[in-house]
Amino acid sequence: MKKVLVVGATGLLGRHAVAAIADSADVVTASRTGSMVDVDITDPESIEAMYAGLGSVDAVICVAGMVPFVQWKEATGEDWAIGVASKLMGQVNLVRIGAPFMADDGCFTLTTGVLAQHPMPGSSIATTVNCAIEGFVRSASLEIGRGIRVNAVSPGWIAETLAGMGMDPTPGLPAAEVAGKYREILESADDGVVIPAMRT
Ligand SMILES: NC(=O)c1ccc[n+]([C@@H]2O[C@H](COP(=O)([O-])OP(=O)(O)OC[C@H]3O[C@@H](n4cnc5c(N)ncnc54)[C@H](OP(=O)(O)O)[C@@H]3O)[C@@H](O)[C@H]2O)c1
Repeated sequence: MKKVLVVGATGLLGRHAVAAIADSADVVTASRTGSMVDVDITDPESIEAMYAGLGSVDAVICVAGMVPFVQWKEATGEDWAIGVASKLMGQVNLVRIGAPFMADDGCFTLTTGVLAQHPMPGSSIATTVNCAIEGFVRSASLEIGRGIRVNAVSPGWIAETLAGMGMDPTPGLPAAEVAGKYREILESADDGVVIPAMRT
């Protein structure tokens, strides 16, 4: 079975991503706490230590990364720095540092989000970070080599998240359906693409 590292495995999407691939992969879970492997993706040394401990992997799925949702006037430099260090550079470094540990023809799948294409008040940090991730995916796939693929899933609002915010979950997609996209990418030949996972 292929060894697949899921970073952010304790989260809403992470738990469902693990369930979606569990029957076809040897899954290694990672997050800051509560997983098989502890990692903080904002810390390159922590990422390096994780990969060194694992040895080679066949695929990495990242569903981790924090990005503050703050109105423009209230957003501080620290809010911007958190989004860039966590969701953007955390994922970039998972690929950059992880590439030597990735098997030939392996696959990195990152996570972006609908706010890249559909900004709303309060989303400037998320929109900026998501657009950067999408650019990274398209460009990294050109150069990374050894048949390694780099893609991203772009979830819309997830139904469980809307329900948790006290909102109507109907416009959202259930986390299990979004998670299915991570499995589809693993089993596909997709490279350098961003796959939407949202209601149309
Ligand atoms: N939920 C939605 O509606 C929605 C919509 C569009 C896009 N997305 C994107 O989907 C991704 C996952 O969302 P989610 O709702 O599943 O989030 P979540 O439930 O908050 O889970 C986040 C996961 O990432 C881990 N994590 C957070 N910071 C980390 C760090 N610095 N290092 C390592 N692990 C870290 C968390 O565990 P620890 O805290 O223990 O580390 C947890 O396992 C995010 O990128 C989010 O922006 C979500």
